[in-house]
Amino acid sequence: MKFHITTFGCQMNVHDSQWLTRALESRGWQEAGEDEALVYIFNTCSVRDKPEQKVYSEIGRIAAHARRDPRVFVAVGGCVAQQIGRGFFERFPFVRLVFGSDGIAGAPNALERIVAGSDERAALLDFMPAYEEREAALEQSAGSAAGSGRQAFVTIMQGCDNFCAYCIVPYTRGRQKSRHPDAVVEECRALVDSGVREITLLGQNVNSFGMDKGGAGVSFGGLLRQVAAIKGLDRLRFTTSHPKDIAPEVIAAFGEFETLCPSLHLPLQSGSDAMLKAMRRRYTLGHYMGIVEALKQARPDIVLTTDLIVGFPGETEADFQATLDALAAVGYDSSFSFKYSDRPGVAAVNMEPKVDPQVAAERLMRLQTLQNSITRKCLKMLVGTETDVFVEGLSRIQGGDAPSWKGRDPAGRVVNVRMEYGGCEDAGDLVGMMVPVRITEAKKYTLMGEGTGTPW
Ligand code: SAH
Ligand code: SF4
Ligand code: F3S
Repeated sequence: MKFHITTFGCQMNVHDSQWLTRALESRGWQEAGEDEALVYIFNTCSVRDKPEQKVYSEIGRIAAHARRDPRVFVAVGGCVAQQIGRGFFERFPFVRLVFGSDGIAGAPNALERIVAGSDERAALLDFMPAYEEREAALEQSAGSAAGSGRQAFVTIMQGCDNFCAYCIVPYTRGRQKSRHPDAVVEECRALVDSGVREITLLGQNVNSFGMDKGGAGVSFGGLLRQVAAIKGLDRLRFTTSHPKDIAPEVIAAFGEFETLCPSLHLPLQSGSDAMLKAMRRRYTLGHYMGIVEALKQARPDIVLTTDLIVGFPGETEADFQATLDALAAVGYDSSFSFKYSDRPGVAAVNMEPKVDPQVAAERLMRLQTLQNSITRKCLKMLVGTETDVFVEGLSRIQGGDAPSWKGRDPAGRVVNVRMEYGGCEDAGDLVGMMVPVRITEAKKYTLMGEGTGTPW
């Protein structure tokens, strides 16, 4: 059976889609282009109104195909599926499966039953009380993950208990459930044994790992320690971190483990204490800046990135100015910034006054202009420095005598590297390798460099 998966949203969804692809392939299904597929799977995101609306328009595009060919149907998974549930069946007659965050484990079998004709429709929307291990689905073996199978994500927890006032995630992903630390370490070890060099530990709020029953008494710092100690692992990352839960031992780990990459995504959301309080973030700007200080002490070359929301209900020009000031004070390498978007059922829906959409749009623009100038400065400072780039593939931009490769430095910045790899006929040869590089130029969002030594 030919299937096509479209993924929206965060890395958890990307990871889930990769797992589902492998699980279906292990049942003999084949991934196909948009024009050839018979089963269309949408893994959806509901964090803001825009991605949610995009899901409906993308599903709508399948309608004509489904009318022409009765074998064609759609399965909707992820956060919008959890939120809307069976409502999809009424809205689109050709949607035959909806599966939520925990329901995805049963999606491959449900899809098989639908194709075999034993089920007309199915809805997998229940939350499980504890983290459930999924079938191994051929593991994340070479070739299936990014970087030619040498980079992998490992889920350490599901869900979120924080209920930030604007956020739908606790409703769509359910309560926090930590995975058993032994299962995490075992998966990481198996991945490294199969050739994986870079692992990213994933969760909505990794710093609170183990604060529920599932962590078997192991904290996130403890887990990090165990994974960092795996021999043969070159790069370790984790995301996402809530500032209120980051423990001193996690901060210290940045100074202790070379494999732990010197970068941290630490969502600030707002620089105004009044807004942070209304957002129910449970930290102040002062506390956040203390963490930044401690991180820089532990690892002076640490690179910070963040998420910011503008136009949260009640945000004044002074509140917004505080966010701009914080942005400049921390000097983030880059940031994701969003206009506040009302989500069904969250606390902020009832908060007043709402910020005029035009004012919010203008604030977003000002914030992004400031960020761009900071990003440019950060990147410019790197020209002339040496680093190691982990090659993920060929660069989109080619030209000149030597091929260009796209990869990332330890902090996760994209670097395009010009390099002839002597004696190799296969252009894929540098993929999955570390290349010593001198940075030669800073573009708007990326770096350019040239190879200076032997790839390893
Ligand atoms: N668990 C992660 C983030 C999940 S959502 C964390 O806590 O950091 C990713 C980002 O989307 C959030 O950090 C926030 O900046 C943004 N976001 C979430 N809900 C939003 C909303 N209703 N409107 C605008 N942005 C939102
Ligand atoms: Fe949403 Fe807050 Fe949980 Fe992040 S920590 S997923 S922003 S509720
Ligand atoms: Fe979106 Fe759900 Fe991830 S709402 S950001 S896909 S947790």
